[in-house]
Formats: sequence, structure tokens, C-alpha cells
Amino acid sequence: MRNISIVGIGSGNPEHMTIQAINTLNAASVLFVPTKGPDKAELADVRREIIARYVTNPACRVVEFAVPQRQTADRTYNQSVDAWHAALAEVHASLLARELGPGQTGAFLVWGDPMLYDSTIRILDRVKALGTVEFETSVIPGITSLQALCAAHRIPLNTVGKPVEITTGRRLKDTFPARSETVAVMLDGEQAFAGIDDPDAMIYWGAYLGTSDEITISGKLGEKSAEILQVRSKAREAMGWIMDIYLLRKGRDFDAP
Ligand SMILES: C[S@@+](CC[C@H](N)C(=O)[O-])C[C@H]1O[C@@H](n2cnc3c(N)ncnc32)[C@H](O)[C@@H]1O
Repeated sequence: MRNISIVGIGSGNPEHMTIQAINTLNAASVLFVPTKGPDKAELADVRREIIARYVTNPACRVVEFAVPQRQTADRTYNQSVDAWHAALAEVHASLLARELGPGQTGAFLVWGDPMLYDSTIRILDRVKALGTVEFETSVIPGITSLQALCAAHRIPLNTVGKPVEITTGRRLKDTFPARSETVAVMLDGEQAFAGIDDPDAMIYWGAYLGTSDEITISGKLGEKSAEILQVRSKAREAMGWIMDIYLLRKGRDFDAP
């Protein structure tokens, strides 16, 4: 039986790596590094830096593999993600069959934590269901971009005794400000915060968190929205890519009810 470790590597700063993650990488025969094309080369570079810095076992072999792009034309969001995951399952199945012998352990280096807006766990479940290659999995937690955001702004995630919702830009309008007082927003390609009509809400925004390019802006939404749009657009143009996350909050600690 093969073993696959799904290892959270943190969100951009190699020092996010936990001792458990380092030990798990060093125990693997093969380290699988996803690459997403030249636009996101820096994400693969962080993984390479982590391997160079922490993997001391000379028996570990690194295998890079290209991640196919999601096709969006003529399909709903769910159809598009489902088809993408099916394609990814095929890629992973042949990767494992080709690169990992029975009894060997492989590790996937997953951005942030594998449980948060990442599909490695469910894709490997799909690979198992294909039945072409047998393996067991284990998951090693990592520092998420949400933790990195709160740390960068020196804020608690929740207000006292209140819940938090985590969503995507696509769904923000269903949530804030009507349903949740604190919302964390990830995967926002449309800058959904700019369409929220609550000028007194606070926004805590961060891009490239944990890296030397980190940018953070915070303040009232009505006062900071235009600045964030401008800074984000400039940074994206200069870097060729962007990863940003933000927290929207209305109300304060000890507000009733
Ligand atoms: C596919 S999700 C992966 C999330 C990851 N598993 C985690 O634990 O944070 C990618 C989204 O995470 C957020 N993200 C990840 N790393 C980030 C970083 N260093 N700075 C800002 N946002 C980041 C962005 O919202 C981005 O669109």
C-alpha cells in the first residue's frame, strides 16, 4: 500500500512550516510540487524554497507536475469545477502510478491548510474511487491565509461570542452585511467588497501575505474601498498575479445581542 501525506505548507512565508510538516516531508520518498504556469511561478518557487531549506533526507525525490486549467466556457460554476476535478483526478492517478512504488510514501505540498478552499483531499478521494492505484492518506495542518491576514492586522478573527462566515467573492453579497457580522472573503476575482453598501463596516485587506511583497490596508469600507481597488490593480499589473484575502466586520465586541 502506498501512503500519501497531504501537507499544509503555510501561506507564503517558509517559516510558516510546522515541525510536523518538516518531519513528514523528510519521511517521504517523493515530494509532489504542483506548477500553475509562468504567471504563478512564484507559488512553485515558495515550495522549492521550502524543500531546499527543510528537506535534508537525500533519499527524497522531487516531482513537479503541471496542474490543468479550469475550463469555464458554456458551463455553470459547479459543472466547471466538477469537470476540472475529474481531470485533476486523472492527472494525479497517473502521477501516483508512475512515480510511487507500492509501500512508498509521497507528499503533496499544499498551500496554506488543505482543509480551506483547497481540493487536494477531495481529488485524492476521487483518485481512490477510480480504483487504479491503492493508497492511504493523512493530512498535516498548515497556517492558512486567514490566520496570516489576522496576524498581519493584529486582530482577532471573531468579535466576542460571535460567529464568523468564510466565503468567496462570488457569494459575498448573499452574506454581508445582512447575514453575518464578520465575513472572511477568499478567491475574490471580482473585488466584491466594492459592491457592498455599508460604508461604516471595517475592511482588513491583505495581498501576498507572508511574502516580501506583502501589502495590507485597513479602515472603514467607505474610506478604503477605492484605495484598495487602486493598490490591488497596480500590484497585479506589476507582479502579473495576485492573491488577496480580506475580512469585513460590522459591530464591535460586546454589541448587543
Ligand atoms: C485556492 S485558495 C487556497 C487557500 C489556502 N488553502 C489557505 O489555507 O489559505 C487561494 C486563496 O487563498 C487566499 N490566499 C492564499 N494565500 C494568500 C496569501 N499569501 N495572501 C493573500 N491571500 C492568500 C486568496 O484569497 C486566494 O484567492
